[in-house]
Amino acid sequence: MAVFSRSEGMPSGEPSFAATVVASSHERVVLERLLTAARRELGMDVAYFSAFIQDSQVVRQTVGDGSLFDLHAGTTIPLEQTYCRRVAEGALPEIIPDTGSNQITCALPVTGKAGIGSYVGVPITFSDGHLYGTLCCASRDANPSLAERDVAFMHVLARMVAESLERDRHHDADRERLERAVMMSAADIADSHAEMLRRLSMALEYRDDDTGAHVNRVGDKSAELAALVGLGETECEMLRAASKLHDAGKVGIPDAVLLKPSRLTAEERAIVETHTDIGHALLKDSKSAVLRLGAMIAWTHHEKFDGTGYPRGLAGEEIPIEGRIVAIADVYDALRHDRVYRPAFSRSRALEMMHAERGRHFDPVLLDLFMRAESVGTLRDF
Ligand SMILES: [Fe+2]
Repeated sequence: MAVFSRSEGMPSGEPSFAATVVASSHERVVLERLLTAARRELGMDVAYFSAFIQDSQVVRQTVGDGSLFDLHAGTTIPLEQTYCRRVAEGALPEIIPDTGSNQITCALPVTGKAGIGSYVGVPITFSDGHLYGTLCCASRDANPSLAERDVAFMHVLARMVAESLERDRHHDADRERLERAVMMSAADIADSHAEMLRRLSMALEYRDDDTGAHVNRVGDKSAELAALVGLGETECEMLRAASKLHDAGKVGIPDAVLLKPSRLTAEERAIVETHTDIGHALLKDSKSAVLRLGAMIAWTHHEKFDGTGYPRGLAGEEIPIEGRIVAIADVYDALRHDRVYRPAFSRSRALEMMHAERGRHFDPVLLDLFMRAESVGTLRDF
């Protein structure tokens, strides 16, 4: 059933084509139907529409035998050579029933090269007045039946093509807005997640260090040592965040024991040592990879390379590398800062004490890397 009647230059018949356009959810299908209508009603070999992009005409969609003119979606032609630019500028009429008898078209190389016998082209203009490109029909042969009513019909179709493209444009804009909103909320979640981790580690540290400075230094030092070992940037950043949770389990240690200013009894020491298991239990089931890494570090940062640490007495590479790294960063930071029962050690004395534990408390390879970087000042001095 013909949905258009070119004799009136306007859509006719039931159901109305405009209604079908509105009902269509896929603009490409709509555009194909508009092109089909143009080609059939005007009796041309091919119908197509194109966009003007800078100095080029880019074919967007064709219906009919585009290969006759080497016209396909994506075909790009310098605007200078085209009928369409001249039509848009008013230098050519919108309808050329016989290109051989038109002074301009018969002189244009494209006429012979592409073998264009007849042509109809009208501008596609958006509602804001922006010229998008052209809607065209072309045939190999001259088509003397083409008349002004066909131009009127093509203008109606061009307006519908513009509406269809604008709907797509608005959908694209909506999609972009939505994608931006999703990205922003994802970034916001990531930010708030990082901030929550930072504040949680500070809160955990508050009881025996009201600035949270120790956890931050251990985090930074661990990340620096991880970079020296050759871990990737993401792993280093994860370690920076997760290592701040190494003493998370201290939340379960009574103040009377944790804050006791004098020497701990064996029983009290055993209570303090449970902070490794408590930290692990607190964090291990998290959906967050950083928190799960925090659980593993909490569990292993008091293990010793020779197997004499706690809570499980792991030795050597049984201790995850993150645990071995944090052990070095944690002990070094403790030595370099005041404790209630002693003042801070100097850098050289602290390094000497660390070296005495090479292969005992600490992984010798990691410790060598750490000592070398520390003694030449590659690592930040805390
Ligand atoms: Fe600890």
